[in-house]
Amino acid sequence: MNKLIAPSVLAADFANLQRDVEMINQSEADWFHIDVMDGVFVPNISFGMPVISAIKKHAKKTMDVHLMIVNPDQYITTFKNVGADILTVHYEACTHVHRTLQAIKAAGMKAGIALNPHTPIAVLEDVIKDIDMVCLMSVNPGFGGQSFIENTYKKVKQLKNLIEFSGATTLIEIDGGVTDKNAEQLVEAGADVLVAGSYVFGSQDPIATIQDLKNRIS
Ligand code: DX5
Ligand code: ZN
Repeated sequence: MNKLIAPSVLAADFANLQRDVEMINQSEADWFHIDVMDGVFVPNISFGMPVISAIKKHAKKTMDVHLMIVNPDQYITTFKNVGADILTVHYEACTHVHRTLQAIKAAGMKAGIALNPHTPIAVLEDVIKDIDMVCLMSVNPGFGGQSFIENTYKKVKQLKNLIEFSGATTLIEIDGGVTDKNAEQLVEAGADVLVAGSYVFGSQDPIATIQDLKNRIS
């Protein structure tokens, strides 16, 4: 499959959000990665429904919404209504992962499960065929601009093995600390989607940076 780049809007200039959304539209990026933080599951608060609706108004690409919130079940249809195409919840925030996956799909979205850096791949063994995408956190969730955790490579390989062994079609997304230094190695290990926030938005020319990342992984 074609490898994908998903710039994280968390690193955008919120006072110029439409400009940054248009930049992603015009770039080689494949998806919008949208980080929702509740100040409970993670020690930070980002943005919620009104901001996602505003992004959706201008976004011309897939909306990949990453929920770093407790009790995600209670908002599934709301996130569908504000424009999510893929809805990812954290394994660590769900008591009934299988039920949550079915509810996301029933609402008409692709279903993702995110794993914190300390959560082993093995916890997904019995639900892997129900998951459209696994988001492997390569930093501790809550903030952009953190350093990539090297143990992620091992987890990508383990997850890839589990997906192939199970005959699943699950995508592997990597989130946190992605740069030109690790993009190729992540894709070689089995990653399908790379999220990049501060590396893209902190660069002089974000469109060229996205293009460069895309070239490295194609
Ligand atoms: C972290 C978020 C990430 C973040 C990535 O909690 O889930 O999506 O925006 O940002 P960078 O690429 O700066 O690590
Ligand atoms: Zn994210």
